[in-house]
Amino acid sequence: LERDLLTFEGFYFHRKACDTGVLENLDDFELRDDDVFVVTYPKSGTIWCRQILSLIYFEEHRKRTENVETNLRVPFLEYSKHIDFGKRPSPRLFVTHLPYNLVPRGLKNKKAKIIYVYRNPKDVMCSYFHFLNTYSTFKAEDTMEAFMKQFLEGKVVGSLWFDHIRGWYEHRNDFNIQFMMYEEMKKDLRSSVLKLCKFLGEDLNEESVDAVVRQATFENMKDDPLANFENILKTNVGLKREGHFLRKGTIGDWKNHMTVEQNEKFDKSFQKQMKDFPLQFIGM
Ligand code: PPS
Repeated sequence: LERDLLTFEGFYFHRKACDTGVLENLDDFELRDDDVFVVTYPKSGTIWCRQILSLIYFEEHRKRTENVETNLRVPFLEYSKHIDFGKRPSPRLFVTHLPYNLVPRGLKNKKAKIIYVYRNPKDVMCSYFHFLNTYSTFKAEDTMEAFMKQFLEGKVVGSLWFDHIRGWYEHRNDFNIQFMMYEEMKKDLRSSVLKLCKFLGEDLNEESVDAVVRQATFENMKDDPLANFENILKTNVGLKREGHFLRKGTIGDWKNHMTVEQNEKFDKSFQKQMKDFPLQFIGM
């Protein structure tokens, strides 16, 4: 797998897809006040939050009068070689897996808004394991045991989960940032949508909120070709085994994939690295 990884400033990216030009110029990346960034560690609810943002900002999306993939409405900052961000109309929506110390410098001056979505790390790891073993572009460890080692060493795109969330959380006061928990979104999607609208200053009427919520459920997104990039991945990348990008979308699926010993080992590592960390994680 390490052959697939590109290291930049000590952080791992996906080598083939990464736009190194963007990475090298992040410091000077020109921000606009109304830019919005979704920030996640991989497999934490990225596509979900992108879908919600796209639905909040684009009436054409809510009403389904225009067919644009969410992937293009909310493009990846570091994985969109073909997009000229400077030419995009405002408000621009972005998504990134970057750690707090590598993002465009202007974000630190509280220019633009950030939404950080996090998920309990056992489910993140399981989701990641399945993802890498589904699509043929990725070299993947084929046992959970081997992948867990890699995950706990941070030798994956996104580097070490512990560092990612700690970094963002501990520097939260430098940014204009709203934290969103995957498990809370899952338990009460409507409240989560309203929380996001409030943070973004987007005042949607009740009918519009309903439309956002309806089109952001797992079931609807799974069947909606615009809402996930399964089709893109299948065509550009290919499947190595049967599987879906929107795989299961539940809380606690790790229990079906980790042994008791693996779980204990994970907990040990978690306790060591997350001691005194104030955020709670649900479902682990
Ligand atoms: S990536 O590759 O980093 O962009 O992946 P990411 O989108 O962060 O994570 C994929 C997991 O998110 C689940 N997902 C959802 N869960 C609940 N509701 C909705 N609407 C939803 N959309 C995506 C997706 O199923 C992956 O999790 P697992 O556990 O593998 O199913």
